[in-house]
Amino acid sequence: MKNSDLADLARNIAEKAYAPYSNFRVGAALITDSGNIYTGCNIENASYPATVCAEDVAVVKAISEGEKSIDTIAVACIDAESDTAIFPCGISRQRLAEFDTKKVIIVEKDGYKEYTFDEILPYNFKF
Ligand code: THU
Repeated sequence: MKNSDLADLARNIAEKAYAPYSNFRVGAALITDSGNIYTGCNIENASYPATVCAEDVAVVKAISEGEKSIDTIAVACIDAESDTAIFPCGISRQRLAEFDTKKVIIVEKDGYKEYTFDEILPYNFKF
């Protein structure tokens, strides 16, 4: 799958977000090293800390299906006020580090940008 297709998938899955509290819709689409695709959206909760990030949903789906490592993840969320794209939160970055994620695509209003995982989370914690 092309990076542009992964970016489009992330954009589309954001529409499935359950985000009644923040109205902040996030979509994620990842391709594993074995070539399979998994998507996720954020799922909020009235008990706010129970909210799950879009990236984490995609990671949980992939790993629970037997995937071992992630090649690329695309993340889509355009902040309506500033028109700028969001980057994964720190906890989601750490979850992605665990499964050897190589590249991150940040979806923008028009198009997307590509980053290496090391740019997104340098000196990441693993043992
Ligand atoms: N959110 C994500 O889905 N991914 C991130 O990396 C940052 C934050 C969601 C969680 C919550 O539903 C909303 O964005 C506002 O924090």
